[in-house]
Amino acid sequence: MKEKKLIWQLYPSYLLVIFITLILLLTYTSSAFKTFYINQTTKDLRARTVLIEKQVTPYFKSQDFNKLTLLISEQGKEITTRFTIVDAKGNVLSDSDENPEKMDNHASRPEIAQALSDKWGMATRYSRTLQTKMLYIAKPIKQNNQVIGVVRSSISINELDNTLRGLIEKMVLWGILISIFSAMIGFFVSRKISGPIKDFSKGADELSNGNFDFQLPVPKIQEFRQLAEAFNNMSFQLKDRMQTIINHSSEKEAILSNMVEGIITVDKESNITTMNQAAKHYFHIEKEAVVGHSINEIIRHTTIQKVIQKALITQELIEEDIALTHPQELFLHVHGMCLTNANEECVGALIVLHNLTRIRKLENMRKNFVANVSHELKTPITLIKGFLETLFRGALDDKKEREEFLTIIQEHTIRLEAIIEDLLSLSRIEQENENNLIETDNESLNEVIEKAISSCQKKATNKEISIVFNSSKKLNAKINFSLIEQALINLIDNAIKYSPAKSQIEIVLTQSPSENTITVIDQGCGIPKKHIPHLFERFYRVDNARSRELGGTGLGLAIVKHIAESHKGIASLKSAEGKGSQFSIHIPIIQKQSKEQSNV
Ligand SMILES: Nc1ncnc2c1ncn2[C@@H]1O[C@H](COP(=O)(O)OP(=O)(O)OP(=O)(O)O)[C@@H](O)[C@H]1O
Ligand SMILES: [Mg+2]
Repeated sequence: MKEKKLIWQLYPSYLLVIFITLILLLTYTSSAFKTFYINQTTKDLRARTVLIEKQVTPYFKSQDFNKLTLLISEQGKEITTRFTIVDAKGNVLSDSDENPEKMDNHASRPEIAQALSDKWGMATRYSRTLQTKMLYIAKPIKQNNQVIGVVRSSISINELDNTLRGLIEKMVLWGILISIFSAMIGFFVSRKISGPIKDFSKGADELSNGNFDFQLPVPKIQEFRQLAEAFNNMSFQLKDRMQTIINHSSEKEAILSNMVEGIITVDKESNITTMNQAAKHYFHIEKEAVVGHSINEIIRHTTIQKVIQKALITQELIEEDIALTHPQELFLHVHGMCLTNANEECVGALIVLHNLTRIRKLENMRKNFVANVSHELKTPITLIKGFLETLFRGALDDKKEREEFLTIIQEHTIRLEAIIEDLLSLSRIEQENENNLIETDNESLNEVIEKAISSCQKKATNKEISIVFNSSKKLNAKINFSLIEQALINLIDNAIKYSPAKSQIEIVLTQSPSENTITVIDQGCGIPKKHIPHLFERFYRVDNARSRELGGTGLGLAIVKHIAESHKGIASLKSAEGKGSQFSIHIPIIQKQSKEQSNV
């Protein structure tokens, strides 16, 4: 529909009202004017008729029509009135303006007929004789109460029509002027009205675009002023409320995105309404905009879909465990429940995902550890028990057997002691690390390496292995001297154990802006690739039999790893099967300590 400006809505109705008023006014005025004019003229004409009747009656009675005509002609000229004298039969006897012989019988003229019946006669009509509109007043001339004739006065009332026409013309002119004037006023008023209306509409647009700071100018018109003030007040309150809503929603967003638990909510049609980062991370969803999509399209996991379906139809809490293998191994505990509105109607479902991976892994580790410890302890104890039984059964008496068996028992007792010592040392490092009880000092790294080398020197010499350490570069670091020494002894001991005789072990000390690294490099058997990720686990051995034969407990590298971690660092390994291995301890340089670090 074509839009109209406010002025074109108002102006035609103004105009209509003005025209109707004008027409009514004109009709009323002209009719009132006409009545007034006729009344006045009638009164006046009556007076003239009475006067002339008094003067003509003697001449009429004496039948002196010449004098009569002379009289009415003179009088008629003087007072611009036409006088006509008619006998009782309606024949014109005398006329001030016309020759009576040319005039027909007037008995049928309404005013004459009325006068002949002894009444005042009156009529207005167009006179063909004078070719003008006339007002006629007729009065009976009486003798002995008998109507003997009629005197008629008449006057042209053309003037009335002319005056009325002039009046109408003037009023029409005024009407046009008033219409133009009212159009101007209408334009002005509509501008006065449409100005604030435009401002209101602009204000509403600004509000819908979220600009709550927009304030309307306050107009002078009272009603608009109240409206503008109410609008400004409303936008201020809206701003306040929007801010509260935004704060609540960002608070909710922050809580959701920082929650470790995965949160998913769906509506009744299973379309996602919320999904936090944790949930996306668990299911490896990279897409940012998931809201509005069906859960079945985003998460293709039957258990999740089942939990949502159940939650949407039951009021109960649904619990399931799921295991994900891709992209990483994850154990999730799923809680599902329906979301209800104020009328207790189900409007969607909430899914909470608890990540149990760490707990499950720790549980597994604990189970494996207990199994491993039991197994490691059981082997020497079974052997000791077996040899003791053999001794009791008679071997005690045989000196050679007794010495041989007691030596074996001693070896396994030492092994048991080594395992227990290693376990105790592992748990002590773990505990101290957890409780931040590891004491560190600014120590020389060269010194700790040299001390570890000298502890292993005898074993190396036995295998004719040379240990090389180029100590030209001297570095200090904040470490626990004895723990780092123990870790290095473990690494050098392994290097000696798993290297052929007459080979060489090199120890390298390096520094980068972020860390100090001590690397033990051997030319030994190396480690097959598949074992490398597990090598630092407790009791893990590449070759169980060989390691045991060499007196290993399988805890050495686990201790190295924990010592590195207790210094906020890591233990790493590079190895090529058959060529040798490189084990490193990386000790980070903490910013605060960097000044204390110096090349000595
Ligand atoms: N330098 C090395 N070269 C080749 N294999 C190695 C080396 N160091 C360790 N390993 C392998 O890693 C396994 C674990 O080593 P770890 O030091 O933890 O145990 P271990 O040496 O057997 O016993 P111990 O507790 O007495 O050190 C060893 O059994 C061995 O198979
Ligand atoms: Mg070892």
